[in-house]
Amino acid sequence: MEDSSPSKYNTNTNSGSNGSSSSNTGSNSGSVAGSGSPATTSGGSGVTLNVNGKSYPINVSSTDMPLLWALRDLVGLTGTKYGCGVEICGACTVLINGQPEKSCDMSVSEAAGKQIMTVEGLAADPDGKKAQAAWIANQVPQCGYCQSGMLMSAVGAMKAGHHGSSITGEMNNLCVCGTYQRVTAAVQGL
Ligand code: FES
Ligand code: FES
Repeated sequence: MEDSSPSKYNTNTNSGSNGSSSSNTGSNSGSVAGSGSPATTSGGSGVTLNVNGKSYPINVSSTDMPLLWALRDLVGLTGTKYGCGVEICGACTVLINGQPEKSCDMSVSEAAGKQIMTVEGLAADPDGKKAQAAWIANQVPQCGYCQSGMLMSAVGAMKAGHHGSSITGEMNNLCVCGTYQRVTAAVQGL
């Protein structure tokens, strides 16, 4: 999403509403291939995803499957969330070769061969570690649903050379709970 409106990170209002969040990630139309070479079954394709430094051979019914589906349902990393499915909310944000991308709008074929980092990989990454510590120190999350995407966007901005408030200038994640002020506070020391 290219909406660059900075206002939500500087707002003085906190809605405090916890809207109901869908955790539906869509249908699982593939399978875990297990270790070794990607397995291909009748009608399926073998694809290997590199996630958080590990290789995951998976079998998908179509290589057009959104990366988000594959991460959650086939790789088994459920920290990346489904929100809108149309590149608006940012809940599904992951890093692809260090850059934030919406995984609901990227196919597994586009992601194959690239370095994918999810929220589960942050603790092993120097920038990710710093961001996690800042989030904890500022008690940023409310319901938490959007926060993995928030963190991935912030870490992507750090990797692009941003610091402090310029990090939120790069972020366009939506938060139903209205944690923008605490996100703004958390990035100040980064
Ligand atoms: S799920 Fe909302 S941007 Fe991807
Ligand atoms: S949606 Fe609840 S913390 Fe952002």
